[in-house]
Amino acid sequence: MRIAIINGPNLNMLGKREPDIYGNRSFEDYLTELKSVFPDVDFAYYQSNVEGELVDAIQQLGSDCEGLVLNAAAYSHTSLAIADAVKTVQIPVIEVHISNVYAREPERHRSLLSAYVTGLIVGLGLDGYRLAINHLTSRKP
Ligand code: DQA
Repeated sequence: MRIAIINGPNLNMLGKREPDIYGNRSFEDYLTELKSVFPDVDFAYYQSNVEGELVDAIQQLGSDCEGLVLNAAAYSHTSLAIADAVKTVQIPVIEVHISNVYAREPERHRSLLSAYVTGLIVGLGLDGYRLAINHLTSRKP
């Protein structure tokens, strides 16, 4: 099974960025672990800080893969373009947020994407990605 993970802006700084909120681990390091937990999954990983590049990746990987784990980071709260891209994708999309966005500033309480995703995992740290992949690999059509 081919599964895409797409991370949005500033998630390239995981491990260095606000470690009290996002932890001490880089995503690359975590991805190595994910690959060993799911040896049968063919992972496509993409990160960008640029809105349009994320739209391109959602369109492209959304047609090449069988499931998508998406943390659009701050764009989750602002981007109609990313919401429209998610709406168009035909595969299951799990929205992940590392932090509990509902326990943070009010502007993080709304995600423009949530209405169009299959499911949502918030506040469980990086483990949210593993839980999302677990769901995608075991889900019944
Ligand atoms: C985030 C939450 C967003 O509000 C924030 O802008 C991020 C990361 C999370 O994973 O908790 O960059 O999506």
